Amino acid sequence: MARASTGSSSSALVSKLLISSLLLGCYCLVSEAQTTPPLVKGLSWTFYKTSCPKLENIIRNRLKKVFKKDIGQAAGLLRLHFHDCFVQGCDGSVLLDGSASGPSEKDAPPNLSLRAEAFRIINDLRARVHKECGRVVSCADITAIAARDSVFLSGGPNYRVPLGRRDGLSFATREATLANLPAPSSNTSALLTSLATKNLDATDVVALSGGHTIGIGHCTSFTSRLYPSQDSTMNKYFASQLKLTCPTATTDNTTNLDIRTPNVFDNKYYVDLMNRQGLFTSDQDLYTDKRTRPIVTSFAVNQTLFFEKFVYSMLKMGQLSVLTGTQGEIRANCSAPNSATTYLSSIADEEEGTSAAF
Ligand code: HEM
Repeated sequence: MARASTGSSSSALVSKLLISSLLLGCYCLVSEAQTTPPLVKGLSWTFYKTSCPKLENIIRNRLKKVFKKDIGQAAGLLRLHFHDCFVQGCDGSVLLDGSASGPSEKDAPPNLSLRAEAFRIINDLRARVHKECGRVVSCADITAIAARDSVFLSGGPNYRVPLGRRDGLSFATREATLANLPAPSSNTSALLTSLATKNLDATDVVALSGGHTIGIGHCTSFTSRLYPSQDSTMNKYFASQLKLTCPTATTDNTTNLDIRTPNVFDNKYYVDLMNRQGLFTSDQDLYTDKRTRPIVTSFAVNQTLFFEKFVYSMLKMGQLSVLTGTQGEIRANCSAPNSATTYLSSIADEEEGTSAAF
């Protein structure tokens, strides 16, 4: 069982949830009792128990050091897992470099603002893990664990991640990438429609958007809300401050996604939304739309409820179209399929064999 460690005893939690649900008349009682969605066949809570028992310690200890230097990397790693899972499933395909066959997922517009450092961190973790255990752990699993540790080490809930994902052999096209990652200009209707195709409901949409409690966004992701005219759902003072950061629609600056506690994984993102201080249309409209507004409010007043729902939705997201069993492969390098590497080494082997024969 994955358990969100939020510090409350379960009976206190249940009564808190009941009270908040009664007060807010929210949708949320449905799956309150269940903190873990069903596991996809092939994934398990103990997948590397014998083949790589130190896996999670290696990753957590390394990330503690990385975040001590720059906590911003936590946001980069959380977003990387989301972008991996939404396009072609959580198969590490977002990690692949482009090849002669064409540009990779990485090169598609929504992925250009993924942090270059996040890709380096995943490959570094992979090297450390493979050094300890051999090539048994997938890049997709390492990305899922790194996302969890990013949440926890930023102040969010700790939770167990089902493991056993395999790495995909190829990346998605630019078109598929664009079609699967919603734009920040999306309204709630567009988000609900888009995420419903992945079996994610309104509570999942609001909970997952809470990932925006950490990290940054570029001006170009939200200046359509400032120029030529100001979005009426945006707080006026907030807008005037954003205009200082982004004096033109195309300024290459960044700003925090959560103005209250930009580096802490907490529920302040929802408080921002209630104060009309959401950065993207896709954020702010969750409070404007009457279908999602009660969910936003319930998370703003109850961080424990948010953490619980976030974990549940992350576990759903983290199992989207995963490869398991004998599907895919365990990459030796997260940026390239093994065929690219083994082709070169098999030529070397052949040459060695040839010279030995003579
Ligand atoms: C629901 C639809 C979503 C949209 C439209 C969206 C859009 C965006 C955009 C436009 C950025 C900023 C890119 C830039 O300008 O540099 C961003 C950043 C971010 N997103 Fe989302 N996102 C969504 C869902 C999610 C989810 C599900 C998560 C994780 C659970 C997430 C986590 C993040 C994080 C942590 C950042 C900051 C990254 C950094 O600082 O490097 N987002 N998102």
